[in-house]
Amino acid sequence: MEFSVKSGNPEKQRSACVVVGVFDRRKLSSAARVLDKASGGALSTILRRGDMDGEKGQTLWLYNLPNTLCERVLLVGCGKERDFDEPAYRGIIATMARTVNKSGAVEAVNYLTDLPVKGRDTLWKISQAVTIIQDSLYSFQQLKSKKEDTQRPLKRIVLSVPSRSDLLPGEEAVRVATAISVGTKLTRDLANLPGNICNPTYLAEQALQLKKTYKGLKVEVLEEADMEKLGMGALLSVSKGSEQPAKLITLEYRGGRKDARPVVLVGKGITFDTGGISLKPGAEMDEMKFDMCGAASVLGVMKAVAEMMLPINLVGVVAAAENMPDGKATRPGDVVTSMSGQTIEILNTDAEGRLVLCDALSYVERFDPDVVIDIATLTGACIIALGHQATGLLSNHSPLANDLLGAGKQSYDRAWELPLWDEYQEQLKSNFADMANIGGRPAGTITAACFLSRFTKKYKWAHLDIAGVAWKSGKEKGATGRPVPLLMQYLLNKAS
Ligand code: BES
Ligand code: MN
Ligand code: ZN
Repeated sequence: MEFSVKSGNPEKQRSACVVVGVFDRRKLSSAARVLDKASGGALSTILRRGDMDGEKGQTLWLYNLPNTLCERVLLVGCGKERDFDEPAYRGIIATMARTVNKSGAVEAVNYLTDLPVKGRDTLWKISQAVTIIQDSLYSFQQLKSKKEDTQRPLKRIVLSVPSRSDLLPGEEAVRVATAISVGTKLTRDLANLPGNICNPTYLAEQALQLKKTYKGLKVEVLEEADMEKLGMGALLSVSKGSEQPAKLITLEYRGGRKDARPVVLVGKGITFDTGGISLKPGAEMDEMKFDMCGAASVLGVMKAVAEMMLPINLVGVVAAAENMPDGKATRPGDVVTSMSGQTIEILNTDAEGRLVLCDALSYVERFDPDVVIDIATLTGACIIALGHQATGLLSNHSPLANDLLGAGKQSYDRAWELPLWDEYQEQLKSNFADMANIGGRPAGTITAACFLSRFTKKYKWAHLDIAGVAWKSGKEKGATGRPVPLLMQYLLNKAS
């Protein structure tokens, strides 16, 4: 998709399609009003016949509107003007994109970006429009023998800005949002691939592929023998039952000052989570191919940052392994020694994410990080606590937590903080090792983060539990690309 920005009147657009909004009770948006006037009231006459009242999500095609230069006009219902907020804006942009894409118009001039959204400026509306349009036209077809392609798909979208002075900043917003979309697409593609294709070795190859495209990236892949030498007994306990060797993948991007300490991202990359000997129940187990969404988001962010050449230093680490049951697999009750020297009693082999992450979190000390953020589909409990709306956020440093919460609000890829109080640490007591890898039923997301916090004492750290947001189940099953927008917003704020 090609995006551009433009300021000008809708009736003057020589285009296959012009899109304008209509609020509830047929209240015309300002662009719709201009069209109505130019066409001698044709628009309001049609609306009065009752084809559309402006309810949120409604659409109506108009052809041959008098005194306009476009082939067709799409009216999009925006709901009550008073209630027109961020989710409403995001929703109508997605509706617009899907509707135009199916219409046969290969280009469109979109005036929905002119609609006032409470508390949001033009640049926010532009960048949201770019990412939402890309997201809503995404489909995963790689593994279908017959592609379900749209006949004449939408190729170019012009986004309207109110005045000429918005053109330059608008173009910059498009550039940045396009890079974010490119990263998000990589995240979704990797996450949607099944476990028999996307295994730890595949993830390592993808990292090396990124290095080919973006010469500035450095990539290093540690093999199991290397990890053995580093003493990563926790990480290696997870891949023991699998035929697929674990990989620890590091990507380094240096776009900032030489002496600036890097932001380090650590992604959980369990390419399939059967639970191991603590085997998961069969229902919906296929969705455990998504247990590498944290890793996929790290790779997506690295790609977006390299693409937009953001002036920051960034390190991405992916802890990739497959969790399988086998004669060689780790048993419940086994005690392993982590890279930090702390010993862990593995009471449940299905709490494997924290085992791969803890060694990766010790490993990243060598980068002298400014901050470390790990991203993981870590606990089913997070879905119980926050549902599919918010990422769970836990941190040992409140300014970092606030920065991430703020970035989530800005990008509308939101997180919600849970407490990391010391009192919860007691639940991890073990009679046989320094700690157990599970903390019982209460506060499962918090005790998982408590476990990680024992490996992150040397730096500012935040943990993002994306179990509820990284993918959708049911009819629309598939990866969402979250929390790439949140992380990108955090990094953009950091760079400015
Ligand atoms: N990958 C799962 C968490 C998960 C489950 C995410 C379902 C999304 C949907 C993780 O490895 C896991 O199995 N966690 C256990 C921890 C428990 C054994 C303490 C869980 O959440 O049940
Ligand atoms: Mn598990
Ligand atoms: Zn898992």
